[in-house]
Amino acid sequence: MSTRPIEVAPPQTVQTVTFDATMDARVAELRQRYPTSRAALLPVLWLCQERYGWISPGVIRAVAERLAESPAFVEGVVTFYTMYQTAPPARYVLQVCTTLSCAWTGARGLVAHLKERLGIGFGETTPDGTFQLVGVQCLGACGRAPVIQINDDYYEDLDVARLDAILDELSGRR
Ligand code: FES
Repeated sequence: MSTRPIEVAPPQTVQTVTFDATMDARVAELRQRYPTSRAALLPVLWLCQERYGWISPGVIRAVAERLAESPAFVEGVVTFYTMYQTAPPARYVLQVCTTLSCAWTGARGLVAHLKERLGIGFGETTPDGTFQLVGVQCLGACGRAPVIQINDDYYEDLDVARLDAILDELSGRR
């Protein structure tokens, strides 16, 4: 598996966001699939996160304007869902499932190992910006527990040795 690093737009570049023609067309295409602008909000935000790496206040204002919603409403949605990044994320976001099936099959050991190896806790990022650790509830892959999602990819049936090999591989990339 080859997990792609998150390409993060630096804060100074997304203080004010104007969608270019490509983004405008993709937002319009998404908007047409839904009966209302509000219904299209989640996929439009997802599109923006793919493009900019995170949802800055400037992105919120641009989305609000494009979908004729208030920035406050859009911000409320962004901050409700943990899948949206409201600050520049690390290159690799490790979402560790801590729910029952994963807990029974070794997630606690994986979490302890990650915290020790990376020197960070849940909600924190390594000083070099490479890894971010997040505790999450069931990722819907209980049959292959324990599971960690790294960016868009699932890593299943994990143990400490495999996890170390994955981190070594990702750490080695620049
Ligand atoms: S409990 Fe971990 S994926 Fe469902």
